[in-house]
Amino acid sequence: MGDVLSVMKTFTDRVAVVTGAGSGLGRALALRFARERMKLVLADVDEAALAATGALLDGVGTPWLARRTDVSDGAQVEALAQAAEAAFGAVHVVCNNAGVAPLGAVWENTESDWRWALGVNLWGVIHGVRVFTPRLLAHGDEAHIVNTASVAGLLSPPGMGIYNVSKHAVVALTETLHHDLAARGARVRCSVLCPAFFPSGIADSQRARPAALADTGSRSAESDAREAGFRKAVESGRLSAEDVARAAFDAIRDERFYVLTHPRILTAVERRMQDILTGATPRSPV
Ligand SMILES: NC(=O)c1ccc[n+]([C@@H]2O[C@H](COP(=O)([O-])OP(=O)(O)OC[C@H]3O[C@@H](n4cnc5c(N)ncnc54)[C@H](O)[C@@H]3O)[C@@H](O)[C@H]2O)c1
Repeated sequence: MGDVLSVMKTFTDRVAVVTGAGSGLGRALALRFARERMKLVLADVDEAALAATGALLDGVGTPWLARRTDVSDGAQVEALAQAAEAAFGAVHVVCNNAGVAPLGAVWENTESDWRWALGVNLWGVIHGVRVFTPRLLAHGDEAHIVNTASVAGLLSPPGMGIYNVSKHAVVALTETLHHDLAARGARVRCSVLCPAFFPSGIADSQRARPAALADTGSRSAESDAREAGFRKAVESGRLSAEDVARAAFDAIRDERFYVLTHPRILTAVERRMQDILTGATPRSPV
């Protein structure tokens, strides 16, 4: 726990930016912040989905702004920050949450697969950190950045190499952000969210794929079977997006860095660490 003055305890009328706010966890985060009477800035590539989240916020009576934003494009993230400040003033919470999940053995993934998913999952978080952190530091109030990684940022499950690479990188980026902020004595805190499966639209994330990076690859029958398994695992996730959003909010309020929402997965994380420390060949996490 840090200095009490730096922990975010005041939420009413403060501004939260959420990327990937049209679906799943992003929508649940927006609704969780709305319950705290925050003002919401919603970003997503899917404008109809953003409008649907906005309609839910109307039901709660929350002021909101929606802006179509492709988080892989730095200029669009900069425009999002400017629009947020123009509408509501200083931003206090930023959730870099948008994500996609291409599957397949790493040698089967095409260059477009890599560029698409690293663009959203990694560059989206890089842009969010790069664009918003100086603004949070400049206003000088307590503030918090939540980066959505995954347990795939702490483990390397087979058949989802691009996703694993992107999420491990988000964990590393957020740990470093924490150290850089602490070294400055900043009042900005950060957390990395590492959930396991919860039901959402992630198994259909190709819907948000730009035509310029279209899926041109061919996959083996084994990878197709893995895709079906992934969908089933998402659908049968033990927690809901709302549960994960609640854990993220609690982490902001209680100033917790690592947010691991699914305790049963901790054994696999521990086994990976043991394999590293003992020099053993990695055991499969699944
Ligand atoms: N659902 C799970 O089991 C699970 C587990 C661990 C981590 N996560 C992570 O949670 C986050 C949210 O995913 P979700 O499960 O709610 O999936 P989701 O598909 O329901 O929501 C993701 C949203 O991101 C948007 N999006 C996609 N590309 C974008 C882009 N370039 N710019 C802006 N928005 C874009 C989509 O339109 C969608 O609305 C992701 O980072 C995902 O990796 C999900």
